Amino acid sequence: MASNVLSAAASASPSTSPVTDLLKGKGRLGSGNVGSLFIKDKGNPFLNSKSCGRISMAVAVNVSRFEAITMAPPDPILGVSEAFKADNDEKKLNLGVGAYRTEELQPYVLDVVKKAENLMLERGENKEYLPIEGLAAFNKVTAELLFGADSPVISEQRVATVQGLSGTGSLRLAAVLIERYFPGAKVLISSPTWGNHKNIFNDARVPWSEYRYYDPKTVGLDFEGMIEDIKAAPEGSFILLHGCAHNPTGIDPTPEQWEKIADVIQEKNHIPFFDVAYQGFASGSLDQDAASVRLFAARGMEIFVAQSYSKNLGLYSERIGAINVVCSSTDTAARVKSQLKRIARPMYSNPPIHGARIVANVVGDPALFDEWKAEMEMMAGRIKRVRQKLYDSLTSKDKSGKDWSFILKQIGMFSFTGLNKNQSDNMTNKWHVYMTKDGRISLAGLNLAKCEYLADAIIDSYHNVS
Ligand SMILES: Cc1ncc(COP(=O)(O)O)c(C=O)c1O
Repeated sequence: MASNVLSAAASASPSTSPVTDLLKGKGRLGSGNVGSLFIKDKGNPFLNSKSCGRISMAVAVNVSRFEAITMAPPDPILGVSEAFKADNDEKKLNLGVGAYRTEELQPYVLDVVKKAENLMLERGENKEYLPIEGLAAFNKVTAELLFGADSPVISEQRVATVQGLSGTGSLRLAAVLIERYFPGAKVLISSPTWGNHKNIFNDARVPWSEYRYYDPKTVGLDFEGMIEDIKAAPEGSFILLHGCAHNPTGIDPTPEQWEKIADVIQEKNHIPFFDVAYQGFASGSLDQDAASVRLFAARGMEIFVAQSYSKNLGLYSERIGAINVVCSSTDTAARVKSQLKRIARPMYSNPPIHGARIVANVVGDPALFDEWKAEMEMMAGRIKRVRQKLYDSLTSKDKSGKDWSFILKQIGMFSFTGLNKNQSDNMTNKWHVYMTKDGRISLAGLNLAKCEYLADAIIDSYHNVS
């Protein structure tokens, strides 16, 4: 429409008018002055006509240097929330984003977070810049929480820890380090994986490929496939592993399988790269959920670990996490840390302080730490109850004999339903259940009252849509 107005104006105007001159690039003023030319120049033939404002705007829009920029597609995960907001049906249910909700389906701020924030106010802490690597007290406790305070990697100062912009930003710092210091090295990611992993490595120009993970026949782990693919990867590849509560499948290797995975990674001189976004949230125990990372660390391997406090402390919008690189010596760790800082400085200079202080206060204070563990157990417990109720509803309502027990075997926030894209579309279009198109539902966004409704939606989509 704007271009129609423009071309009509251009063809109707005398060839010497400022409009045509500007369109031909002959204007007296730069394109940045187009708007002001029309407003100030009393001699302009269009000035007294009503359409003057429209024409000047149309010119300004049409000479944009940004014409080649196309509309980006909505994000497959965050776009689900946007679609949910636009739906007015009262039955609607948002199971798209992995964010914890109360039984009333409301966002939840942990009590320990409020207490830690009060402490910050009482102490009157300032808002000075943090160093590039982040808050020292945070970096200390975050590494201890991950590896265990008594781990040799801590006492030998072999971990380079840098505060990052939550899990995503920490993964990105690591991706840039890989691109710089391991040119051409591949990152192997699970198929499927969290939707943002591919974006992160693509944007950092790190080549990646997938290893088999999910077996649709068993709705379980394709362990043989996983091992074969890790073995077949070029020596020295980075193997991205979800520390616990694999997203999107909710399927984790057993402790024996983790040992075998570590064997193969060691044999092939690969570098394990853990993404730990759910520590404490999967089982309710911080130690249990860190067992995979600790197993690799105890073998003396060099490891990357990205951490996030979005889920376990509910600090989604504070953007607090860390990248930890376990090295073979103190000296190497110091060098790696210096390079991580060098990567961070031109990206965002230094990280935000608020979330870092919350984590440092909660983990560093024995009473708050215990309260946090209790709250985490409460959150994990609510999700487990919802998981059980969904399974019970599915088995009592579905008379086809389908085995739904995979839902109980999965762990963490998510359930991978096995529904395909068409079936997932039916969940949304017919039942107003918003979820990602890979069939993942976030049980953290479900409550006991809605389990039966969800079971009806899943049964209908599974049996009546192919
Ligand atoms: C596997 C995984 N890694 C990383 C993240 C990063 O989240 P954030 O950047 O909010 O910490 C998420 C969040 O959903 C995730 O599921």
